[in-house]
Amino acid sequence: MSVPKTGRFDAEDLVTAWRERGEFPKIHTAMTAWVRENVDPREGPVLDLCSSTGLLGRRLAAAGYTVRAVELPGPALQLGRSNGVYEYVPVMSLRIERDTLEDLGDWLRATVMPGHDPIRTVVARRAFPELWDSLGGAEGFSALGRLLAECGVRNVLLEGRAHSSRTTHPLGEAIAEANALAESWRVLCWRGPLYHLVPRA
Ligand SMILES: C[S@@+](CC[C@H](N)C(=O)[O-])C[C@H]1O[C@@H](n2cnc3c(N)ncnc32)[C@H](O)[C@@H]1O
Repeated sequence: MSVPKTGRFDAEDLVTAWRERGEFPKIHTAMTAWVRENVDPREGPVLDLCSSTGLLGRRLAAAGYTVRAVELPGPALQLGRSNGVYEYVPVMSLRIERDTLEDLGDWLRATVMPGHDPIRTVVARRAFPELWDSLGGAEGFSALGRLLAECGVRNVLLEGRAHSSRTTHPLGEAIAEANALAESWRVLCWRGPLYHLVPRA
């Protein structure tokens, strides 16, 4: 069966490079280093939010983290699954939007139950602008921030877009992502487009 190409022209090439040569994409190098600098694998599982083909999550798993993932049902998820990228990264197939936010919450709360390993860290690389759109803007996006904090997440590690004078999206650069989550999260540290947020409470 042929696998459909994803929206991003080189996504299939990246999966092929990983499958054939064990190469991880350079686009994930900075975030992988940021996770390793800021969170110990012993803190608990990491959620790769909007995980696309799964290569970032798989790379974190290879670095010793327990990783879960969420990605909308679509060609990127299919490509990752059919090539084995998600073999060590259980992935929830979910389009996050207002109507499904509680499904994400139920899943996160379930990990806090006895006998489960609670998700402590959310990794969001180039994910929040898309979720801002799916959640209908500021109010829905704040609800996501509250939900993550209420469900026991202790770290949000985000990588946003670098500053550009041409951007028109409300979350067009990383600091805007941090600001949009400010009701529930504060900035612990940052470097360029990489931010480490911790709960306000
Ligand atoms: C710019 S890509 C970044 C992918 C990955 N985090 C990375 O750094 O390679 C954004 C991803 O978010 C996913 N996505 C967009 N809206 C989503 C939603 N509402 N729920 C779940 N995933 C979503 C897209 O399918 C895509 O895989």
